[in-house]
Amino acid sequence: MSVLTIASSPSTNSRSARLLGRARDALTASGIASRHLELRKLPAEALLHANSRDPLIAEAIEAVAQADAIVIATPVYKAAYSGLLKVFLDLLPQDAFSGKPVLPIASGGSLAHALVIDYALRPVLASLGSHTILPGIFAIDRDIETLGDGTLLLAPALLERLGQRLGDLRLHLPHRARIEHAKAA
Ligand SMILES: Cc1cc2nc3c(=O)[nH]c(=O)nc-3n(C[C@H](O)[C@H](O)[C@H](O)COP(=O)(O)O)c2cc1C
Repeated sequence: MSVLTIASSPSTNSRSARLLGRARDALTASGIASRHLELRKLPAEALLHANSRDPLIAEAIEAVAQADAIVIATPVYKAAYSGLLKVFLDLLPQDAFSGKPVLPIASGGSLAHALVIDYALRPVLASLGSHTILPGIFAIDRDIETLGDGTLLLAPALLERLGQRLGDLRLHLPHRARIEHAKAA
């Protein structure tokens, strides 16, 4: 059983990716294995041409197929999710998220686009076949701070929301995954 985490910011110093990293750590701590996909590391030309024969693109598509659940993190760009995420989602098969619970995470500069998950991302995830798109996590930049030594500091309320949403995700993991998780605990 494995959860696939997908980071979709083009930034090398990505807040949304760091938040996703914290989610991954929490999953690991509760005995749930995860795989990670960083979209910015996929070959740009193959991605833009939707070349699913490219080995790295094919591997990424297969990682989605193998996942029991998916956590997607995106920055808010121009009141929507990132273009990088869109080009990746566009090359997935139409039912790629069928049977997989999805937890969306977004970070933005302010609360102006706090509903971006619901008005922009959720319909796309639904069109890819997920019947279980969990309430997402929206974080504003000032709630995600990295200290000089690299330590990630999250605002207490954000940390609490993250814990709650990951709890929701665990409850929605497929039956097989929950049994494995229970054995691991
Ligand atoms: C090109 C661009 C467009 C942005 N547009 C918005 C926006 O429309 N609304 C918003 O709240 N923040 C916007 N921001 C701020 C980012 O969403 C915010 O800093 C986010 O945390 C960045 O995440 P990342 O570090 O993972 O890339 C934008 C930033 C960039 C670079």
